[in-house]
Amino acid sequence: MASYRLLWLTAVCFLSSAWAEQRKLSPENLLVITAATEETDGFRRFVKTAAQFNYSLKVLGLGEEWKGGDVARTVGGGQKVRWLKEELLKHSEDQQLVVMFVDSYDVILAAGPDELLTRFSSLGHRVVFSAEGFCWPDQRLASKYPQVHSGKRYLNSGGFIGFSSDLAAIVQQWKFRDNDDDQLFYTRIYLDQKQRTRFNMTLDHRSRIFQNLNGAIDEVVLKFERSKVRVRNVAYDTLPVVIHGNGPTKLQLNYLGNYVPTAWTYEHGCGGCDDDLLLLGDRQEEDLPLVFLSVFIEHPTPFMDEFLERLATMNYPKTRIRLFIHNNVVYHEQHIQRFWERHRVLFPDAVLVGPEENLPEEKARTMAIEACQKNPGCGYFFSIDSDVALTNPDTLRILIEENKSVIAPMLSKHGKLWSNFWGALSPDGFYSRSEDYIEIVQGKRVGLWNVPYITQVYLVKGSVLRSKLSQASLFVDEGMDPDMVFCRTIRDQGVFMFVSNRDEFGRLVASTTFNTSRLHPDMWQIFDNPLDWREKYVHENYSKIFEEDSSVVEQPCPDVYWFPAFSEKMCDHLVETMEDYGQWSGGSHKDERLSGGYENVPTVDIHMNQIGFEKEWLKFLKDYIAPVTEKLYPGYYPKAHSIMNFVVRYRPDEQPSLRPHHDSSTFTINIALNRKGVDYQGGGCRFLRYDCKVESPRKGWSFMHPGRLTHYHEGLPTTQGTRYIMVAFVDP
Ligand SMILES: *[C@@H]1O[C@H](CO)[C@@H](O)[C@H](O)[C@H]1NC(C)=O
Ligand SMILES: *[C@@H]1O[C@H](CO)[C@@H](O)[C@H](O)[C@H]1NC(C)=O
Ligand SMILES: *[C@@H]1O[C@H](CO)[C@@H](O)[C@H](O)[C@H]1NC(C)=O
Ligand SMILES: *[C@@H]1O[C@H](CO)[C@@H](O)[C@H](O)[C@H]1NC(C)=O
Ligand SMILES: *[C@@H]1O[C@H](CO)[C@@H](O)[C@H](O)[C@H]1NC(C)=O
Repeated sequence: MASYRLLWLTAVCFLSSAWAEQRKLSPENLLVITAATEETDGFRRFVKTAAQFNYSLKVLGLGEEWKGGDVARTVGGGQKVRWLKEELLKHSEDQQLVVMFVDSYDVILAAGPDELLTRFSSLGHRVVFSAEGFCWPDQRLASKYPQVHSGKRYLNSGGFIGFSSDLAAIVQQWKFRDNDDDQLFYTRIYLDQKQRTRFNMTLDHRSRIFQNLNGAIDEVVLKFERSKVRVRNVAYDTLPVVIHGNGPTKLQLNYLGNYVPTAWTYEHGCGGCDDDLLLLGDRQEEDLPLVFLSVFIEHPTPFMDEFLERLATMNYPKTRIRLFIHNNVVYHEQHIQRFWERHRVLFPDAVLVGPEENLPEEKARTMAIEACQKNPGCGYFFSIDSDVALTNPDTLRILIEENKSVIAPMLSKHGKLWSNFWGALSPDGFYSRSEDYIEIVQGKRVGLWNVPYITQVYLVKGSVLRSKLSQASLFVDEGMDPDMVFCRTIRDQGVFMFVSNRDEFGRLVASTTFNTSRLHPDMWQIFDNPLDWREKYVHENYSKIFEEDSSVVEQPCPDVYWFPAFSEKMCDHLVETMEDYGQWSGGSHKDERLSGGYENVPTVDIHMNQIGFEKEWLKFLKDYIAPVTEKLYPGYYPKAHSIMNFVVRYRPDEQPSLRPHHDSSTFTINIALNRKGVDYQGGGCRFLRYDCKVESPRKGWSFMHPGRLTHYHEGLPTTQGTRYIMVAFVDP
């Protein structure tokens, strides 16, 4: 009994003296050392996290030539030990100093010096190496490792911490070549029982300090606490300080790096926000970077005129833009032609490559990017595909100011989750949905996001194209989509790709149902591209109808309302479509079957179903006319059913007018499609009960009046030219 008690006392004394010694550890006596020959994006990220937590950091090897071999594929890394050996000579006598050595390209720090030292103390050893589940590079050594009760068994040399006197003594044993393996070197020392004891070495089996991600992805989660985030190992319930994206886990590290270190709040920022901004401010025009703007029209795309027009209205001096357009679509030559006629003076050095040159997409992309690579004056390469609607004219400036090697504005199809980036990759390199994908697309998390794949629109620094991305064939690889090749190359070069949703930039245009055999195919895009459709085809003052005290709705006769509905373009395109179709009914030629017997009075007309536009028209009624009805006739909720939808043509020599009649509708809308005094004379409408005439219809404006009972009306004669109106009998 007595002896048991004695033992226990000894243990207490021992522990408390060890504790007393370790308590002396303080951040002033901590030095973090890393090795890097190049300032890669990964290196900058590491340095940033170290600075964020006020670590004192020493970088070895910057600017030197790397002779340590291709460590991503094979063994090597000895050069790092040689540098460390030299560096630690300076600190070999320092009994207080604790040194942590970590890699930098694929490492982030997730907590500060105090927390690190507390963990180190609690591990109770003088030297601690990180651990992983793979025995590398010599698997025959596996059996020599001590058994572990729980946790990872094998040494990884990407991170270790210890008293500098011990670490110095360890690395003094290095006498190998630069491309020999550093991990094998440390492993041999650790596996040597004598040395292990001498240096009091252990491994961080349960990721209290070091989290190697290789083989442990499933153990690691992000732990969100209010606005703070930590990386947490759920297998061992630890909060590691050093996160190492070793082996094939670089992308997982990039993902985690969007959230940690905790000092950044994920609502307002992420890896890389808020710093390094390259503010253009009010720089003189000639001091702005030269941008090689390349446009790719590789398939028929709706709203092409509008797309091209935005190139001219971008808020960036055109003198600092070199325009390149690859158009691979014969149908779009008319649009390029129109654009060119209007804006050629803005882009005197533009290069246009048309479909007649038969240049495949990947070659065109290569050609465009090479122009920037070869021109030392090229500050940025900005690539835009035709299905990108950058409605924010400041997009280019904003992206430049973010000062990233490669950055894309986040865009998605309206109301859809389809976007221009991937949050994660599947093992075979294709799309995989990251946990935060939906929140980013929907703007619930806002920031700059380091992602593995971007497409359709992106900005690349010219300096990066001329350095890290200069050798690689950026777009061409047998059987692969050019953008897949491009992103893979960028990833392989260790260059980070960011997507930003810090601003609203615009949207992606859907082109799958685009039918270029129609005269004005954009008219049919009301379902797939409702915003583009609205901007093009709805009157610009339509939304004013819903403003309080709106002066945009007039009432020229009792219960006859008059409001803006169509844009000029809609009026013109509808008339042109009808004339192109050409099968006007009317007079003695009228086909009663078409009218289904509903028409009281025959008109010269073409119905929406004849041109295949009925569904689209009903959508317009539902989205744009029904809300007006609800406002103007409160309490009436239109079903917005309508089976009589047609364009009427009045001509003095054909049918100039319409005799008095009722409409078979609850209410009727009647939109003037052309301009009195210019396109025709005369015309108008008279409501007999009120003896009230509207004689000067406005192009694009709609009348709305009750159909039956009260609003008996007639069409006044058109005396010259041709008048067109769009009529719909709603809720018959
Ligand atoms: C780092 O140091 C700065 C200035 O010395 C201080 O303002 C900041 O709070 C420190 N940050 C941390 C995480 O300790
Ligand atoms: C060496 O490690 C043991 C744990 O295995 C620890 O108890 C002891 O304090 C360490 N020795 C020294 C001298 O730090
Ligand atoms: C832009 O980024 C580069 C590379 O990351 C950096 O060296 C430079 O200082 C940054 N520019 C500004 C103005 O912050
Ligand atoms: C494309 O439009 C033409 C009429 O111009 C029509 O006949 C054809 O059915 C349409 N194709 C599709 C797939 O909708
Ligand atoms: C829209 O309203 C504004 C202000 O009343 C007017 O200047 C403009 O011409 C209107 N737009 C059209 C297309 O009529």
